[in-house]
Amino acid sequence: MKSVIFFLGKGGVGKTTSSVSLAYYLAKKDKSVYLASVDPAHNICDIVADKPFKGAKNIFGRLYAEEIDVEQYLKDFVHKTTRQMKETYRYLQIINLDRMLDVMKYSPGMEEYAIMYALEDKIKNNSNKDYIIIDTPPTGLMLKIFALPFTSKMWIEKLVEWRKKIIDLRGAISNINKEAIDKELAIKEEDDKVLKELGIQLETIDFMVNLFQDTDKTKTVIVLNQDMLSVNESKKIIEALKFMKIPLNMILLNKKGMIEDSVDIKNNFKDTTVRDVPFFKSGLPSTEDMINSCKDWVKVLIDE
Ligand SMILES: Nc1ncnc2c1ncn2[C@@H]1O[C@H](COP(=O)(O)OP(=O)(O)OP(=O)(O)O)[C@@H](O)[C@H]1O
Ligand SMILES: [Mg+2]
Repeated sequence: MKSVIFFLGKGGVGKTTSSVSLAYYLAKKDKSVYLASVDPAHNICDIVADKPFKGAKNIFGRLYAEEIDVEQYLKDFVHKTTRQMKETYRYLQIINLDRMLDVMKYSPGMEEYAIMYALEDKIKNNSNKDYIIIDTPPTGLMLKIFALPFTSKMWIEKLVEWRKKIIDLRGAISNINKEAIDKELAIKEEDDKVLKELGIQLETIDFMVNLFQDTDKTKTVIVLNQDMLSVNESKKIIEALKFMKIPLNMILLNKKGMIEDSVDIKNNFKDTTVRDVPFFKSGLPSTEDMINSCKDWVKVLIDE
């Protein structure tokens, strides 16, 4: 895989149109491409197909497109976590785990976790493609997904530290009195199921952190229009990316010319490469229009 390209930006600016355009452009150059949307409100299929489809569908040349089934990932995530917790904590009869886990699906943050795991899974499974293009959900949700591996990493590392201390203490107690520690409880790090699970989680999270910060592999594009709302939202995205040390490669001013007397984009984003795509007066651009619209900006992202 040469790179993963993320299209970010405010609702309605043209993230999906730009992602699809680049995907067609690269497929026409005979590249293998996996184009995915992690937006729970999908719309890639509206552009690339006549009707909705499930799974990865071959669209054109070696281009495969998929609306990732976030709901299914959420169900699988809750199911897997439920099973693991029941297995790991089966000695804790006192807590009503079933009830707690039923509620878990609706807890804040679960959707973000499901999307993060979905992304990891799809990126790993499509690493044989030349390019992976990700059409993202609206800014707020996407920034939370970008932040999740970083915050989770801090938490999990702390949990590993505490867990090791617990096991150490159990070991010390069991040295004094073997009967004092329940047989089900691990007294060595290598026998502890919780520690093992935390290690697996850390591996997933490290994969995402490393990928997001890898300037060779990860490319991000902020799509915006010539209005102050999308400009301001883009500035928030830039701040967040900087904070997470995720590279920003380009600002794509889409629908240029749609509004007269509009905002001076280059002046607002002096530190970033800005490219533009005109407003197609005819409405939904044709595949040919989309492919042509990339010719200028694709060079900023990809060495051909
Ligand atoms: N350059 C353009 N010229 C004319 N119309 C365009 C252009 N780019 C996108 N559009 C139109 O603007 C609308 C929004 O585009 P698109 O769906 O790609 O935005 P989005 O950022 O993905 O939106 P959402 O946040 O809802 O997912 C669509 O009707 C699309 O056809
Ligand atoms: Mg969209």
